[in-house]
Amino acid sequence: MAVIFLHYLSMATGRTIHNLALIGFMGCGKSTVGHMVARDLKFRFVDTDSLVEERAGISVAEIFRSEGESVFRKLEKEVISDLAGKQELVIATGGGAVLNPENFESLKTHALLVCLWAKAESIHERTKHQKHRPLLQREDPLGVIRQMLTEREPFYKQADVIVNTELRPQREVVAQVRHQFEESIKGTSGFAKD
Ligand code: S3P
Repeated sequence: MAVIFLHYLSMATGRTIHNLALIGFMGCGKSTVGHMVARDLKFRFVDTDSLVEERAGISVAEIFRSEGESVFRKLEKEVISDLAGKQELVIATGGGAVLNPENFESLKTHALLVCLWAKAESIHERTKHQKHRPLLQREDPLGVIRQMLTEREPFYKQADVIVNTELRPQREVVAQVRHQFEESIKGTSGFAKD
C-alpha cells in the first residue's frame, strides 16, 4: 500500500473542506493522533464514539450488549450527519463508520478524509489488553482483525490520504496528517483560517 497519497484535493471536486476526519481500523490511533492534530491546528476534537455515548447515556460496549450493533450504527449515523455544517473540527470516527456509504459521503462533503493504517499484527498488539471494543472480544482476536481488515480495506482506501502508522513515530504521524490537511485547504475559498 502506498504510504501516503492524495486522491484529489477539495479544489478539484468542489468540496469545501472545513474539517479533518480520521478514519481507519480500531487501534490505529485515530483518537490519540486526532487530539494532537486538533491541538496543533487549534481545532476542536470530537470522537464519534463519545458523541454516541453522550446521546445514548451508556457506553459503546453497553449499547452493543443491550441494544445490539444495529442500534449503535443508527446512532453513529445520526451523530455523523449532525457534524455537517460544523467547522474547525478534528473528527475521530469509529472504525466501522465509513463502511456505511452515507457516512462516507456525508463526511466527504465537509472534511478531508485521512485514513490511519496499520497491519493486523500491529493492531492486535495495540488492542490485545483493551476491553472496550466489543467486536474484538472474541476468541482468536488476531484472526478476527485480519478478516475484518481485509473486508474493510477497500472502504479505508477511499480516503483522500492514507498514512501508514507503522513507518514513523507518532509525532511524525501527527505532523504528516497536519501537513496533508494544510496542503489540501491551500487556496480553497471556503476555509477561513488566519
Ligand atoms: C468499531 C470501532 C469502535 C467503535 C465500535 C465499532 C468498528 O471505534 O465505533 O466498537 O466497527 O470498527 P474505534 O475505531 O475508535 O475503536
